[in-house]
Amino acid sequence: MEAIDLKSEVERTLATPRCKYSVLSKLFFLSMDLVAGRKTTVPKVIFLEMLASIPYRKWETRHYVRLSFAYRHKSVVELASHMVEWSREAQDNEYWHLLVLNERRKEFGIPSTWYLNAFVTHVALYGYMAFAWFLSRVSMRQALLFNAQFEDHAEHTYAEFVRDHELLFQQPVTNEIVRRYADVATWGEVFARIALDEREHRNNSFIEAGKPELVVNK
Ligand SMILES: [Fe+2]
Ligand SMILES: [Fe+2]
Repeated sequence: MEAIDLKSEVERTLATPRCKYSVLSKLFFLSMDLVAGRKTTVPKVIFLEMLASIPYRKWETRHYVRLSFAYRHKSVVELASHMVEWSREAQDNEYWHLLVLNERRKEFGIPSTWYLNAFVTHVALYGYMAFAWFLSRVSMRQALLFNAQFEDHAEHTYAEFVRDHELLFQQPVTNEIVRRYADVATWGEVFARIALDEREHRNNSFIEAGKPELVVNK
């Protein structure tokens, strides 16, 4: 398999305009900035990664229910099985991001912060669960489009973080957990790998929403 040049993939992201964000998405990003500040920090992305897997978990459960009720209908079974498979893969990947970022925080002595306390994270997680559930009940397509914008925002956030912290490429990866996520030499490549994962989530969300024309940098 051909090795991916992670640094040049980050350049591709930076050279690509962000997708168009809805009012709802803009409000969501604004609320994140109000809680965690505008600057991208490790605690802030930890907070975002805690939320990132939630829609996928909701969709997985929802499509398992469909599988139970519609087992007689081949086309529904095929579609729901596909959604379950993709949602599981994506949520596991988001959880890896969370674990890796926590390793980064520990290794570099980055202190935790007030919004990562149990109370705030519970409110945020249960609030986002309710939001993701509601949005998918109203319209699965809208839920996928909102998620695509969330992922686009994440891809650009990580890419800009890599661009702004050139030193990351001089910091070797020695941590076993991080190596299990990505077998790369430096922390710069770890963050670039996360950005690429977010790109894939974004593109797949657009495809599932019936908007393949919005896929970029495939
Ligand atoms: Fe992520
Ligand atoms: Fe993601």
